[in-house]
Amino acid sequence: MTTATAHPNIALVKYWGKQLVRGNFPATANVSITLSDLVTTTTLTDAANDRVTLNGAPADDPKINSFLGLLRESFDIGPLHIDTRNNFPTGAGLASSASGFAALITAINAHTNLGLDTQALSGWARQGSASAARSLYAGFVSLAPPDWQAEVIADAQHWPLATVVAVTDEAAKSVSSSVGMEYSRRTSPYYDHWVGSSGQDHAAAVQAIHERNFDALANTAELSCLKMHSVMLTSQPTLAYWNPATVACMDTVRRLRKNGVAVFFTIDAGPQVKAICLPQYTDTVSQALADTDGVTRTIQCGMGAGAQVLASA
Ligand code: PMV
Repeated sequence: MTTATAHPNIALVKYWGKQLVRGNFPATANVSITLSDLVTTTTLTDAANDRVTLNGAPADDPKINSFLGLLRESFDIGPLHIDTRNNFPTGAGLASSASGFAALITAINAHTNLGLDTQALSGWARQGSASAARSLYAGFVSLAPPDWQAEVIADAQHWPLATVVAVTDEAAKSVSSSVGMEYSRRTSPYYDHWVGSSGQDHAAAVQAIHERNFDALANTAELSCLKMHSVMLTSQPTLAYWNPATVACMDTVRRLRKNGVAVFFTIDAGPQVKAICLPQYTDTVSQALADTDGVTRTIQCGMGAGAQVLASA
């Protein structure tokens, strides 16, 4: 039996769209922070047949099935019971696939003695879900050309930012990221500009992180988020991930920032808002978001660890 954990990560410069090559490579350079407090815990046991349970209930996840199939083309891996649990909403824009595949490959590596190092694990995790490549690592993590290997550009101590998640709806999204990305690539009139400008956004964010320049990071991250959602909204069918509370939270964050609070927002493929702030503002930001119409709860996170094996026997 082997147990591994991994944390979700939140992209400050977003990945949306895939390269038209094998290997599940992003079309856009991206950079994230790994969160603490939100966690996926995955336990593997040998079984007669593959079986997946998600938060205690049987699950049939085609992404996990094809990931196992891909791994078995290279490694001898017997049938497994995969028990995976999230202490946060699953499939709702809180990066459960990132933490999920990072925890899964970390557990499989230990359980079946694959002997892979972190970079190789990250490469495999990317094939399950490209954002999962980043959750192998702690700190500020970049996934960018030329080699598209996730790498740590600054550790958590360099700039320990805080994140407040404003939950507005716990339901799982109806269109998966992979399907949505393909709609966007095929139909959004803004897709080419989005891909073409991502290198510049990535470079600006990396520089802001190195210089600990909060305003520069805030401007770049909000613009990257809004550009991604513009592409989503102009896809056919439209990908409208926001609800009224999402928009209200964005207004709350803008008001706080105008009043001198170092905070910016980012939103992924779901209606939750993540407010990234300097740690001294965490309570102020949490309170303001909790008081925003439609927010059901807030979760405070710091910078989290990379994926790790908890126990293997
Ligand atoms: O890794 P996926 O396929 O779940 O895609 C994640 C895409 C976003 O979360 C919307 C952005 C990102 O870079 O994490």
